[in-house]
Amino acid sequence: MKALVTGVAGFVGSHLAERLLTDGWEVRGVDCLTDYYDSGQKRSNLSSIAGDLELRGEDLRTSDLDPLMSGVDVIFHQAGQPGVRASWDEFDSYVGHNVTASQRLLEAARRSGVGRFVYASSSSVYGNAETYPTTESMLPKPQSPYGVTKLAAEHLCGVYARNFDVHTVSLRYFTVFGPRQRPDMAMHRLAEAALTGAPFPLYGTGEQIRDFTFVGDVVEANVAAATGDAPAGTVVNVAGGGSTTLNDVIATIERLAGKRIALTRKGDQAGDVDRTGGDITEARALLGWAPKISIEEGLARQVEWHRTRHPSV
Ligand SMILES: NC(=O)c1ccc[n+]([C@@H]2O[C@H](COP(=O)([O-])OP(=O)(O)OC[C@H]3O[C@@H](n4cnc5c(N)ncnc54)[C@H](O)[C@@H]3O)[C@@H](O)[C@H]2O)c1
Repeated sequence: MKALVTGVAGFVGSHLAERLLTDGWEVRGVDCLTDYYDSGQKRSNLSSIAGDLELRGEDLRTSDLDPLMSGVDVIFHQAGQPGVRASWDEFDSYVGHNVTASQRLLEAARRSGVGRFVYASSSSVYGNAETYPTTESMLPKPQSPYGVTKLAAEHLCGVYARNFDVHTVSLRYFTVFGPRQRPDMAMHRLAEAALTGAPFPLYGTGEQIRDFTFVGDVVEANVAAATGDAPAGTVVNVAGGGSTTLNDVIATIERLAGKRIALTRKGDQAGDVDRTGGDITEARALLGWAPKISIEEGLARQVEWHRTRHPSV
């Protein structure tokens, strides 16, 4: 089987490519190394991928995508402009990387007749949901421009499935964590703060609840979406299943690192939701998937990864 992994230099994409190569897939990866965060980390992610990755440095918004499709059985579309907070001021960038790029890729997939198109959607499509755990049948009401663009691309997947038989499967990831986590994400910054003594700005009370999902479990959901018999147009939650407050995460990281974190208290951030929590009944039924790694075990692996970045600590 041959895969095209978009966003291959990123957090999720690099883990996915590594797993596919280990399993004997041929993998073509594409990434334009956007400057949302340090390209050094992205290059380091790429160099961690053992195996024969075919790397293409194309921008999905502008490049000719047809040559990327040759021989490809499955597209894993992980490329995107993540992050809730910057999406207010840099909306054009979010539309370009999340909506335009996705539509161009779907169009190329349609032209080439690719067998499966797996899309990295987000729990951000839900906003402040009315009930928890949230099911896919609830009306999405994003709370941020980022969530709006992720939902728009998810709808495009549905549009291409219904009109052109592109076999799309959209996975709504709930906060992904683990080694190589993006440097803008809270766990990454908390672990770095614990190890280096840098202050951590805590927005809100710390009592906001998140459903965290270990990156290895997210990778397994992608493989199940590509190889199982989920129908075209499927949309499922990919959630770890826990309800953990940020204060719980802080305490766990402090314990794992053996150091206290210097917190500086800030107000609420526009776009942040109070709680996320995903019902995974559909993922179990349609993908045969369930998370395996607990928050404790996953955080231990992530903190170990941060230690490798600070060998003298
Ligand atoms: N990490 C999470 O908690 C989370 C949660 C929900 C959804 N998601 C989604 O999962 C996907 C992967 O997230 P991540 O955390 O690995 O992000 P990431 O930023 O680490 O990886 C995304 C990669 O896509 C690349 N990229 C962006 N636009 C591109 C373009 N136009 N052409 C080529 N490459 C491009 C970037 O350079 C980056 O390396 C994203 O689509 C994100 O919206 C992530």
